[in-house]
Amino acid sequence: MNLDQISDLEQLRAAVAGCQACGLRAGCRGVVFGEGAPGARLAFVGEGPGAEEDRLLRPFVGAAGQLLDKILAASGFDRTQNAYILNVVKCRPPGNRVPTPEEREACRPNLAAQLRILQPPIVVLLGATALQTLIDPEARITRLRGQWLQRNGVWYMPTYHPAALLRDPAKKKETWHDMKLVIDKYRAVVDPGHVSPHYPG
Ligand code: URA
Repeated sequence: MNLDQISDLEQLRAAVAGCQACGLRAGCRGVVFGEGAPGARLAFVGEGPGAEEDRLLRPFVGAAGQLLDKILAASGFDRTQNAYILNVVKCRPPGNRVPTPEEREACRPNLAAQLRILQPPIVVLLGATALQTLIDPEARITRLRGQWLQRNGVWYMPTYHPAALLRDPAKKKETWHDMKLVIDKYRAVVDPGHVSPHYPG
C-alpha cells in the first residue's frame, strides 16, 4: 500500500491497521494508530503503545497517559478539542522495551504519513525515542529538552516522556517550563486567545 496517495487520516488508519512491516505486530493485539481532534494544530509524539494501549487500541491511556492528560488539561489542551496524540511505533514492543532502530524505521512511513496529513505547526516530542526518531538519532533529551528546534517550517519541542515523570517527579518542574513554551508558541502561531487554566499569559 502506497501511503503517499492517502490524504485522509481515517483512510490512513485503515491502511496502517494491516501493517506487518516489523515483527512487533505478531506479538501484540493490534495497531494503535493515534487519536485526536480533527484539524488539531498541535501534536504529541510518544514512543510506542504499552499494555493498556494495546488492550484498548488507543494511545496514552495507561498511567503515563493519564498524567499526559493532566498536563494537557493544565495547558488548555485536550485530545478531543485541539491536540493529536501519536507514537513512533504503532505496535506494542514486548515488555514495553524501547523499540529498536529497525522497528522505528519500519514504522516511519506510518508516522511520516500521519504528520504529512495532519501538518501540525507545533510538535511536542515526548522523550528520547521521539526526539531521536524525528530530529537526530544521537540527540539527548536531557540536553535538548526545553529548546525549540525548527525543521521544514515545523516547531519541535522536546520534553520528558510522562513515564519519566512517574519515575522521577522532580522532572515535572522542567516539563511545566517546557509546556509554557508550547503554550506561548501556540498563542503565537495558532490561537492568540488560547486559554490555559494554569498559565494565563
Ligand atoms: N507510552 C507511549 O510512549 N505511548 C503510549 O501510547 C503510551 C505510553
